[in-house]
Amino acid sequence: MKREFKPNSNRIESNIEELAKIGKVGESGVRRFVFTPEEMKAREYVIDLMKQAELQVKVDAAGNIIGKRLRCSDTSLPSVMVGSHIDTPILGGKYDGTVGVLGAIESVRLLNQHSVTTRHPIEVVVFAGEELARFGVCFKGSFGMVGLLTEELMREVKDSDGVSYWDAMLKVGLNPEDYESARREPETVKCYLEMHIEQGRVLEEASKQICIVQAIAGASRGLATFHGLADHAGATSMNLRKDALAAAAEVVLCLEKYSQQEAHLGSVGTVGALNVEPGSMNIVPGKVTMSLEIRGVDLASKKRVIANLNRKILEVSTRREMKIETEWSEDSDPTPVPQHMIKLIEGVCLELGIDYLIMPSGAGHDAGFMARITDMGMIFVPSVKGISHAPDEYTRIEDISLGTELLTNVLLRLAEEVTDF
Ligand code: GLV
Ligand code: MN
Ligand code: MN
Repeated sequence: MKREFKPNSNRIESNIEELAKIGKVGESGVRRFVFTPEEMKAREYVIDLMKQAELQVKVDAAGNIIGKRLRCSDTSLPSVMVGSHIDTPILGGKYDGTVGVLGAIESVRLLNQHSVTTRHPIEVVVFAGEELARFGVCFKGSFGMVGLLTEELMREVKDSDGVSYWDAMLKVGLNPEDYESARREPETVKCYLEMHIEQGRVLEEASKQICIVQAIAGASRGLATFHGLADHAGATSMNLRKDALAAAAEVVLCLEKYSQQEAHLGSVGTVGALNVEPGSMNIVPGKVTMSLEIRGVDLASKKRVIANLNRKILEVSTRREMKIETEWSEDSDPTPVPQHMIKLIEGVCLELGIDYLIMPSGAGHDAGFMARITDMGMIFVPSVKGISHAPDEYTRIEDISLGTELLTNVLLRLAEEVTDF
């Protein structure tokens, strides 16, 4: 008789609700910045779940939690890694990242219940600092795992209290000096798999249950600083002003326009943060700092948005005789998911009778960086109304459960069950 790996929905739901209590804000919001007391408490909760699932748990020198399943025929074979993150954006919901972590743990529990032994070890990973909320850069944990983390980066990036990533790690008892030991050699990882909420509304509108991710968008991020002149808002005539905010506003609208021109190719551009100085009703804004973010799954299209934006900034600067500095801190290309991973997930969807579609991810994920050392694959479960990075983020438990069933079956295929062990 064919075995079925049916997730225990009540168990997953109760794990989600418990985790959401840690760092709860308002009715359904969650704030858990990496290496804060809330996030450390959430880590303890997850580590506990991992141990109950008989995983051997360690925290690597980049702060990633790794739980290894020892029920395999040879623990020295390359691992199938599966996971996500539990830190949140400035104010997030209960599902971004956590669904992937708790789904992975449920998969392990199901394999245990069915006494499954695999050829390859399975490692459940909780990546540290996936979100940029606290330090302004994403994916610090996966950077560590693929060898992109540097001492310079860890010392340079600071939170709003001036605490560096390096010091934040020291404060929670981690040893950043050792960060190179978190790097995984490609021969130790067979592949990486991640389940995540869609964070968009394509699945809902298409009435599909699952998305198999085709590619992950690349992102370019930076800051633009407009150096105007603070002046009296009543006594300074319009032709004598150097209004930094008026100049910035031109750039905001142009970034929107250039991104809209490329929308059919999936590019998006956002100014998500703006700081106006001195920030007073009766003073002409003297200085504006604003964030710039351009993402896309089509590299040429994303590059066009950036080129147009840079040209515009130069034009505004010349016309307004205002110094505008731009500093780009991040630039990643779109990452395709290998065809054989897509095909494998597709085959399991067909077997399980899941109604799926294949499409790119506009959001960034650790999987995009794991691709530097191994094959990766991702599955999305639907987000109600597409809302994410907000307290109203919601994914139905039936959808999470179905995603977890798929995840478990794919995991088993990749880790290869052995029956004669
Ligand atoms: C990750 O949270 C992202 O902003 O894509
Ligand atoms: Mn996120
Ligand atoms: Mn996420």
